[in-house]
Formats: sequence, structure tokens, C-alpha cells
Amino acid sequence: MTARLILKYPDSRLRIRSEEVIDEDWDVNVKKWCTDISDTMKANAGLGLAAPQVGIHKRIFAIDINDLDNLEIFQQEPRDGTLFFINPVLEITEEKTVSSSEACLSVPGVMYNVKRKSSVDIFYTTLEREKKHIRILGKDAVIIQHEYDHLDGKLFIDHLNPFDKKDFLKKNRVPKKKVSEAQVNQIREQRRAKARNMRKRR
Ligand code: CO
Repeated sequence: MTARLILKYPDSRLRIRSEEVIDEDWDVNVKKWCTDISDTMKANAGLGLAAPQVGIHKRIFAIDINDLDNLEIFQQEPRDGTLFFINPVLEITEEKTVSSSEACLSVPGVMYNVKRKSSVDIFYTTLEREKKHIRILGKDAVIIQHEYDHLDGKLFIDHLNPFDKKDFLKKNRVPKKKVSEAQVNQIREQRRAKARNMRKRR
């Protein structure tokens, strides 16, 4: 059991695009990464978790089967109640959108409505290295799109309408840096010096 620390907004590591899983990864790391992702997801009662959220910048995400409407469609045997998606590629098959309330372990304490495509195709590799191509609908498609976004450095708050975006930024205002007295004096002195130079030039 290795639950890792989950990176939280506004950590810039959440904005990095994750790399493909390559042959060398399969030889050494993939199983370990997947176990860590699923252990972390369970420890935090998440319904899904993507590798970059635990600082692994590889194209992997996991989903808890308890939150899926249609488990059969995924064509894979769950491991310890978890499905893994390795090197997934998303294709939008339906322009129609659905709106539902989303939350994220990397953006704690907030929940907002997000519009997603109502259906997507996903090409992916299972932990057994089998390649799959499936079409997902409804709530399951929403979960997949949320997790997939993480692999491209996107968060659900990137999809908010202007009103919710404003609300989110207000709640997550980054405190202004405290400037010390010495720094203030230094800045003043620099300004004065600059002004003196300007006068000299004239
Ligand atoms: Co998330």
C-alpha cells in the first residue's frame, strides 16, 4: 500500500503534459505506478485519479468501478475494483454536450457544473497490455474526459463558465507577497536612482 501525496491547485506540475508509456516503462514501472495510483485513489475516496496528480507524468489514469454505470463496456477485468487506462487516446464522437457537477482531488473544496461531450471513443491499453477501442456514453464518458484532461495538464476548472470562474478565483485568491521594509526602501532607492539618471540624460 503506497498512497502518494496528491498535488493540489495551483501546483504547476498539474499543468505539465504527460508522456506516453514506453516499452522500458512496461519492463520496470507500469505495475508499480498503477498500484500507487489506485492506492492513492482509494485512500482519498476518489472516483478516478490520473498519474500526474501524484507527480508521475505518464499517460495513465485509473477509475473506481463503483462509480461506473456500464462496467461491461470497458472490456477489462478490474483489479482490486479499479480499471486502468494506459496511453489512452480520446476521440469525440458526439458534439452534443451534457452538463454535470464535477469535483477533483487536486482542486479540493469546490464543485462546479462542467459541460462535456455526451459520448467519446477511447483507444487504450490495459494493464495486461491488451489494446482496446470502446465507445462510452453518459456519466462514464464524463469521468473519462475529466481524467483524460489531467494527462494534458488540464483541470476541470478550465471549463467553467465566466460566472463560476470568477467565483473560483475569488475563493482561491493567491495571497499577495509580503514585502519587507528593507525591500520597500530598496525599490524606492532604485526609483530615485533611475529618476536621477533620467535628469542627467536630459
Ligand atoms: Co481530477
